[in-house]
Amino acid sequence: MRRRWMAAVAVTVAGLLTLTACGDGGGAAQTPQAGGEKKVEVFSWWTGPGEADGLKAMKEIFEKQNPGLTFFDAAVAGGSGDKARALLATKLQADTPPDTFQGHAGAELQGYIKAGDLEPVNSLYDELKLKDVFPQQLVDQISVQGQIYSVPVNIHRSNVMWFNPAVLKEAGVTEVPKTIEEFTAALEKVKKTGKIPLAIGSEWTMVHLLESVLLGSLGTEAYNQLWTAGSDWSGPAMTKALNDFKTVLSYAGDPADDWQPAAKQVADGQAAFTIMGDWAYGYFHNPPDGGLGKKSKTDFDWAPSPGTGGTFMWLSDSFTLPKGAPNRAGAVAWLKVAASKEGQDAFNPKKGSIPARKDADTSLYTDYLADALKDWGSNKLAGSIQHGVTVNDAWRVSINEAVGLFHTDKDVAALQAALAEAAKNSGQ
Ligand code: GAL
Repeated sequence: MRRRWMAAVAVTVAGLLTLTACGDGGGAAQTPQAGGEKKVEVFSWWTGPGEADGLKAMKEIFEKQNPGLTFFDAAVAGGSGDKARALLATKLQADTPPDTFQGHAGAELQGYIKAGDLEPVNSLYDELKLKDVFPQQLVDQISVQGQIYSVPVNIHRSNVMWFNPAVLKEAGVTEVPKTIEEFTAALEKVKKTGKIPLAIGSEWTMVHLLESVLLGSLGTEAYNQLWTAGSDWSGPAMTKALNDFKTVLSYAGDPADDWQPAAKQVADGQAAFTIMGDWAYGYFHNPPDGGLGKKSKTDFDWAPSPGTGGTFMWLSDSFTLPKGAPNRAGAVAWLKVAASKEGQDAFNPKKGSIPARKDADTSLYTDYLADALKDWGSNKLAGSIQHGVTVNDAWRVSINEAVGLFHTDKDVAALQAALAEAAKNSGQ
């Protein structure tokens, strides 16, 4: 079982500390009101459609259980949190942390831990007996030397191919593609219809696509080895995987602003496929205005991204207790809700994720989410790149930059060299 998880990795924090804020996030301009001891500033990037519904459900429980406290939403817009994390880095450097912030379990969180930004929450784990309810392997991802540093609220799956069944039918795609070759053939058929074969969003969604293509092309074992000491970023298997990425990307439409408008192109029948994490399920499925209110299996459908069947590429959102949190007691109250069965069972069905807790009410997880629960329990595991499991934030930024350049120059050799260099310099 232990082998199924990416080992928690040592990280350097230089890149994290040199990140600069974009400063254009929705919540960036907000500050808690003066005298706001009762306000609890919760920093995340869950502002958009499909993202905010789950947070709202947890906020309601929090305020009901803590009548003296007010939830202050410090979310910074932008899928996958690249903008939020850049702003967070400046807040942490300036010693003005929010009361609690969202951090992905794995290498990303290890970066905050190594930088000394977080207080351990072992006493909370003891008080709430959380070690009994979270998988040990997940606790390992958020710990250093026996100290535990966050509360995981969910498990998301990254390697999901969402598609519009009617568009596939129109294009004559009769089988859901299971391999990258079948996927390419299907994309080509859709192209002939004049529809968008593959919907894509902002830059990070291309890194999201890259991780699925790497997993599908290299296979799970070789993918998982990329994050170990003997990793091979320069060999022929990686060249082939990056050529696969180039081929798949050549079928992408114009980049939409973020993952939601890309997913909407699929839901609306303008595009055939998008490869996106299962937060897309919340967006497709939830009633308007939070979601699109679409009918599963009719308006949209899903399968593991090509070549990745039998492997669950995972990530986990967790909440932290920053050192110097202005309202520490309020932050602890938030963590208690995030850790609770009630909190997780309110949050996850709306968020499109499954609970991190092992004792959640499985009857609440139906349709796509029932598939996710089953696969989480039985599949091989691989960690997400873009969503903080396998690489720290500095390494992820280098990968983002390399993929951004590649989107313009389409130079596989240059991309491979840049990725190999990023791995070498990562210090992980
Ligand atoms: C991920 C995060 C998810 C979801 C997604 C899209 O990084 O873990 O919860 O928010 O970004 O924004």
